[in-house]
Amino acid sequence: MAVNQSPEDMRLAHSPSEYFRAPGTVTTWWDPLSESDPDYRHWFQRQLQELLSVIQPRGLRIMDAAAGRGRASAACLAAGASFVLSADISAEMLRLARQGILPDSQQGVAFVQTNLEDIPIADGTFDAVLLLEVLLHFERPDAVLREIARVLKPGGVLVVTTNGANPIARLFAPPKLGPRPASSFRLFAATCTNEVMTAAFGFLWSRTPVTARLYRRFFNVPVRPLYPWRVRALLRQAGFRDIYHRAVPVRWLPREHRWIALNTGTTKPSFRARYRGA
Ligand SMILES: C[S@@+](CC[C@H](N)C(=O)[O-])C[C@H]1O[C@@H](n2cnc3c(N)ncnc32)[C@H](O)[C@@H]1O
Repeated sequence: MAVNQSPEDMRLAHSPSEYFRAPGTVTTWWDPLSESDPDYRHWFQRQLQELLSVIQPRGLRIMDAAAGRGRASAACLAAGASFVLSADISAEMLRLARQGILPDSQQGVAFVQTNLEDIPIADGTFDAVLLLEVLLHFERPDAVLREIARVLKPGGVLVVTTNGANPIARLFAPPKLGPRPASSFRLFAATCTNEVMTAAFGFLWSRTPVTARLYRRFFNVPVRPLYPWRVRALLRQAGFRDIYHRAVPVRWLPREHRWIALNTGTTKPSFRARYRGA
């Protein structure tokens, strides 16, 4: 077991990083779920394009951190990034990313299997890092953000989003596999509870302690409560300045959260203007 675990973590059969590294977890649950939901894909792409219009990838060196099947990596390459590194802890997800990206783009892309708590890349390598739909899964989000700050150039940009899109789709989800499979009844119960909690806490919602516990209990997916102000504090502690946050409604439930954060004290008013306008 890793250090710095909360008592909730200790009740998991696996630590979060072991969970995501293990074959047949993320590829048999989250990935088919997100791929088979056109609403999710549409929403993800729209949000991504809005965020890319803020960072303007043309000519930049970008890391897609926790890249999954590389949707954001592909979008950065299509938008003219000079180099994209797709990094993920799951060999299976990286295989999907390679299959999806390489036929279209032979050059300017690399893949690395790594835990983001310890990125095997030199300091100051990237102009921008994307960290999409994953922060609430990390064992040590503080360590991940510090590592990202290290591999960013001074004044580089971090884009963070936290998930929460359309959990109603889970009603139609394939049952989750992995160490403790969830029954349809449990998925249904967790989804309903999540919806109620989301409605109750909508204006400041990321994950409440109660929903986090329910996710662990019913889905066996490692998540932790991650309120927007907690993310802001984590970003500041990691050395980011000029942090712009926005809560985004997805339909009427639930809310998605986005942050754009600039590394090491460089002020770029143009970023503020572009983000506010996004
Ligand atoms: C919910 S998916 C999001 C994937 C992608 N960012 C997207 O939005 O399509 C989370 C991804 O984070 C990866 N992941 C989880 N913990 C990680 C860690 N500690 N280091 C690197 N990747 C991790 C998982 O393997 C998975 O592919």
